[in-house]
Amino acid sequence: MSNSNWFIFLLLLALSSLVSVHSLTHSSDITALRAFKSSLKFSSIPPNSCLATWDFTTDPCSEPRVTHFICGITCSGNRINQITLDSQGYTGTLTPLVSSLTQLITLDLGENNFYGPIPSSLSSLTNLQHLIIRVNSFSGSVPQSLTTFKSLRTLDLSRNSLSGPLPNSINSLTSLTRLDLSYNRFTGFLPKLPPNLNELAVKANSLSGSLNKSSFDGLTQLMVVELSENSFTGILEPWFFLLPSLQQINLANNSFTSVVILKPVNINSQLVAINLSFNRIEGFLPANFSDYPTLRSLSLSYNRLRGPIPWQYSKKGSLQRLFLDGNFLNGSPPAGFFAGDTAVSGSLGDNCLRSCPVSSELCLKSQKPASICQQAYGGKKPRS
Ligand SMILES: *[C@@H]1O[C@H](CO)[C@@H](O)[C@H](O)[C@H]1NC(C)=O
Ligand SMILES: *[C@@H]1O[C@H](CO)[C@@H](O)[C@H](O)[C@H]1NC(C)=O
Ligand SMILES: *[C@@H]1O[C@H](CO)[C@@H](O)[C@H](O)[C@H]1NC(C)=O
Ligand SMILES: *[C@@H]1O[C@H](CO)[C@@H](O)[C@H](O)[C@H]1NC(C)=O
Repeated sequence: MSNSNWFIFLLLLALSSLVSVHSLTHSSDITALRAFKSSLKFSSIPPNSCLATWDFTTDPCSEPRVTHFICGITCSGNRINQITLDSQGYTGTLTPLVSSLTQLITLDLGENNFYGPIPSSLSSLTNLQHLIIRVNSFSGSVPQSLTTFKSLRTLDLSRNSLSGPLPNSINSLTSLTRLDLSYNRFTGFLPKLPPNLNELAVKANSLSGSLNKSSFDGLTQLMVVELSENSFTGILEPWFFLLPSLQQINLANNSFTSVVILKPVNINSQLVAINLSFNRIEGFLPANFSDYPTLRSLSLSYNRLRGPIPWQYSKKGSLQRLFLDGNFLNGSPPAGFFAGDTAVSGSLGDNCLRSCPVSSELCLKSQKPASICQQAYGGKKPRS
């Protein structure tokens, strides 16, 4: 044979071996994929999408994939181990038969238009590590059975229309590090949380009740708490700010009524940012915030705080962003706020402060009318 013939021969050999090593996909996986695709509206599957290439005249896991099953799934051997859909506005329900894909590690349907319930049969996916259905139209409650996933690390159900209480046994998701339930219609209390969470987000729901220490017991790795835009009430107690890994807290737009915070003695606090704006917090502004060595941003805007701004807030190397507007704070703000260009940014407006220098960005927003301040301080002139 000539060199070029040899080349073609070898090429054909290579191609034929590629085709012949194709593994025949487990038959129940094929059945599940077919059901998965056929429970979506055909008209919501655009011609250039991943799902359009799911052509069941060929075997899903066979290689090479040139025209069929180009994307949306991956296989490990003869089993499907990932479904990661592209965001195309696929519209339909999630078939309960998805539960036969028992080797699935990732199920990501994010940013489509799935509707109807989350099938409780999903709990058969015992190897699942990432369940992501964010930005869809799922409704109904979270099936209690979903809390049996022992391997689950990410659970993102954000931006759907889910309702009802959070499952009580959610703390049995012992591998879970990221939980995002934001922008749904969940009600009821915050249950006991999974012990290995790094990130808790339940923003913009209708949760109520107080934050109980028992919900957060043992959560030594919790870094981010995003519970803004709910109806939580009661007192924020010292234990909360002392959770050892906490970096960011957002509890804005709730109905908390007071804050008690201790100095972080014997605790290597990592708190960087706290947002408690738009609550109903009364009392004096706690000076102890200034003892959190890494705290850079503090917002207590639009509460019912009174009294002076603690001078400790202007300590060097302390707060860089401070939003205290919309309270009844009085006295003069600490002079340190206005010293040099390393000064604090934020807002102190809409209070009862004296001598807030209008040359400072902090004082751009004007103070409350004297009559309102006099009323707030029992008819007496604001304390100087
Ligand atoms: C907090 O705990 C108290 C009892 O310790 C209980 O009565 C209350 O219902 C709990 N609140 C929430 C929100 O779990
Ligand atoms: C927070 O609450 C304030 C006052 O009730 C409201 O004006 C604002 O729109 C709320 N913000 C969000 C993001 O809900
Ligand atoms: C500030 O923290 C200290 C020590 O942790 C505590 O004794 C004190 O009561 C706290 N102050 C307030 C106003 O809570
Ligand atoms: C705090 O939360 C409020 C309400 O959601 C928001 O408007 C504000 O920008 C936040 N402040 C900071 C400093 O992040």
